[in-house]
Amino acid sequence: MRQYSIASIPADGIGPEVIAAGETVLKSLEKRLGDVTFTFKTFDWGSDYYKKHGVMMPADGLATLKKFDAIYFGAVGAPDVPDHITLWGLRLPICQGFDQYANVRPTKILPGVTPPLRNCGPGDLDWVIVRENSEGEYAGAGGRVHRGLPEEVGTEVSIFTRVGVTRVMRYAFRLAQSRPRKLLTVVTKSNAQRHGMVMWDEIAAEVAEEFPDVTWDKVLVDAMTVRMTLKPQSLDTIVATNLHADVLSDLAGALAGSLGVAPTANIDPERRFPSMFEPIHGSAFDITGKGIANPVASFWTAAQMLDHLGEHEASARLMRAVETVTGAGVLTPDLGGTANTREVTDAVVDAIHSSNV
Ligand code: IPM
Ligand code: MG
Repeated sequence: MRQYSIASIPADGIGPEVIAAGETVLKSLEKRLGDVTFTFKTFDWGSDYYKKHGVMMPADGLATLKKFDAIYFGAVGAPDVPDHITLWGLRLPICQGFDQYANVRPTKILPGVTPPLRNCGPGDLDWVIVRENSEGEYAGAGGRVHRGLPEEVGTEVSIFTRVGVTRVMRYAFRLAQSRPRKLLTVVTKSNAQRHGMVMWDEIAAEVAEEFPDVTWDKVLVDAMTVRMTLKPQSLDTIVATNLHADVLSDLAGALAGSLGVAPTANIDPERRFPSMFEPIHGSAFDITGKGIANPVASFWTAAQMLDHLGEHEASARLMRAVETVTGAGVLTPDLGGTANTREVTDAVVDAIHSSNV
């Protein structure tokens, strides 16, 4: 019996709804497979915790999480707490503290989902964006002086290190190599940003030498938005800086039909620490508590978690079940359907147990 202990941090907004749905689905996989178990421990960290304790998580939070095999994360953000506090209080300290430097964001058009682009069907858009997740524009370097005075200054300094860029490039090339098309696009902005981004390009070219079987090219981030929209078929694996990939992954989600299905994995490829898996969509207060949140991103990220844990068959079975359900038109309102979270979850559980899936 293979046993995995998972730390759940549902946190804010619709986070608790979609994480509960994901746990239900993982438990049904456990029953279906018979040789693997998942135990969940839920942590009540997040914005409500902050309002009570003045911090988003306890000081020994990382030490507590370190003992788990993986972290299953919902969403952070509350209308009455500034976003930079919620982000820098919980999610970023975990990503940075556990050196989860590769943020992996797959996008494809799931069966039954109508994408916004004309002439773009399921096979035309199948990407994985690798987002540098430990430095760049999110390094947290900078400061403010002369607060409130006319001469106030704020700086936000992007940090690119040779170690940081090399390791994420290697991860991206290796991922591209493992996919059938062996195709990588490196996103840059080295025309305008002439220091860090030029180094980024140079390191990409150096790392490319280690992967002669991967075809790669380089695109400026602004041109990339055009290419994603007009020539989605020309892309496969994509690597970009923290901020560039943040923006491009929202575009990718929209082009695939909904951010409600987009998952993300914060990976420590060296496995020194647990990796963290979460839906991209965020806390979504407009629909919190209504029971209509799309749980598909939370299922898809659970499939990423299974892959990371080496449970490839379970992961594939979960994704087949999700695709069966979306293909049958069991969709939440963000995808134009009428199903609620519970109905989509029940349908995925049924599909997991069905012998055809
Ligand atoms: C994401 C999100 C976060 C980010 C927000 C919530 C700060 O947009 O995961 O893409 O910018 O990293
Ligand atoms: Mg984002």
